[in-house]
Amino acid sequence: MADESRAKDAPLSLEQIAQLLPGTGEIMASVGEAWWRCAYAARGGNWELAAYFARRVRGLQRKLAVLRPKYADDLGEFERQLVAPLLSALDARDGPTFERLYASATDRANELHQKWAKPYIKWVLPDEPPKDLELGPVEETGRG
Ligand code: HEM
Repeated sequence: MADESRAKDAPLSLEQIAQLLPGTGEIMASVGEAWWRCAYAARGGNWELAAYFARRVRGLQRKLAVLRPKYADDLGEFERQLVAPLLSALDARDGPTFERLYASATDRANELHQKWAKPYIKWVLPDEPPKDLELGPVEETGRG
């Protein structure tokens, strides 16, 4: 049987490796999934899960800033002005502050889609919660 792995072939060029990296759209699709889950986890009272997804958004956006430096300033500002305080609100389990920041961040994201020539990308929070995760408060062990 032929060995179909690349191991024995010539090494990939940097250009080929760059082609294999995810594009902005793929990263943003993951951002949207995490952002959706973040809201419903916070609303359900699973604060740690909400923070987990907010950190996922932050991590994906940091990757995007490296991959596409033209977005780095906007992504950095988005993180400093909106994602960081949102994470603090989650840490403090402050629902109203979280909701305010979440709405502002969503508006800002859609403004940035316009700015970067994608006015037809307007992210909206789905009205259904995700069905694959426990969104209610989780009994904690070893905290507090
Ligand atoms: C929580 C915040 C954000 C959410 C939920 C979000 C969501 C999305 C979604 C769902 C898409 C379409 C993805 C697809 O092609 O399937 C998209 C595209 C895009 N977003 Fe965001 N976004 C956010 C923040 C940002 C920020 C801060 C920037 C800063 C520059 C940005 C720039 C873009 C760009 C440039 C595209 C077009 C992708 C392409 O050119 O292929 N987004 N976004």
